[in-house]
Amino acid sequence: MNYRHAFHAGNFADVFKHVCAQTILAALNRKSTPYCYFETHAGAGSYNLGHRQARMTAENESGIQQLASYPGNMPDQILQYLNAVHTHNVGTTAIHRYPGSPWLAAHSLRASDRMVLCELEAKTCGELKRLFHADHRVQVHHRDGYAALQALLPLQERRGWVLIDPPYEAQKQEFSLIQSALSNALKRWPQGIYAVWYPIKLYRDLLPFQRWLARCGATSVLIAELQVRPANSPLRMNGCGMAILNPPWKLDAELQSTLPVLATCLGQNTPGTSRLEWLLHERALS
Ligand SMILES: C[S@@+](CC[C@H](N)C(=O)[O-])C[C@H]1O[C@@H](n2cnc3c(N)ncnc32)[C@H](O)[C@@H]1O
Repeated sequence: MNYRHAFHAGNFADVFKHVCAQTILAALNRKSTPYCYFETHAGAGSYNLGHRQARMTAENESGIQQLASYPGNMPDQILQYLNAVHTHNVGTTAIHRYPGSPWLAAHSLRASDRMVLCELEAKTCGELKRLFHADHRVQVHHRDGYAALQALLPLQERRGWVLIDPPYEAQKQEFSLIQSALSNALKRWPQGIYAVWYPIKLYRDLLPFQRWLARCGATSVLIAELQVRPANSPLRMNGCGMAILNPPWKLDAELQSTLPVLATCLGQNTPGTSRLEWLLHERALS
């Protein structure tokens, strides 16, 4: 396992994923019933953008820094996300630290909600444990996120969502692991919301996974995608997407107003593009 998210923190893919995640969390917060946020691949939770790893790639410059300096008007969901990122940078208007998905989720959760985080890499998991040592809502597991999902579902709460954000070191084989994890999870906890982040290199490589999603057993499946460059290279990430199974009510309308703005702000050299499409739409859950 060589992947370290510190090289990529705050890049365009993180911005896209975290705006989608904040929008799902805001939808869950509209009801008072407690919920659980479960993350299979959590990372460290907070990243120093001045650190050697982040400076080596400078990916955050065409991600969070580009979005934060964009002069145009922003929809509420993006403004709320930017406020959370600034809250993570106490005492400065510049963005020196980037919050990971666990920190952003903890920022949205209420006192009665709960969070379960899995991280397999020992040092990263240690950082995550230190970040949340004083937060009684958070459980951190040093274990394989797919195995933990199988072992810990169904959750005690009636409501909740699972974020699956693997590093795709296994390339296309990662989709087999995801499919197997989701099949089991949907059997054990069919009412859960599941979101899977994926990279876009060559678009045709995604089609088998998307065909599988359309018949995976979820009630509804929504696809949100952002491309910052044309999807014509197998070697680099030209965009990314999020497949959302059993999405909360009205999530599509909210993402509809956000994704084109992200595409405009984050396009590299030429304007980016976005896509929002139901792969399966029977009945949206709340
Ligand atoms: C893309 S990063 C997660 C970033 C995080 N979700 C965020 O948005 O801030 C993927 C993480 O998964 C960890 N990882 C890799 N394989 C894993 C596995 N099988 N189970 C749990 N964590 C794993 C890596 O160490 C890495 O920290």
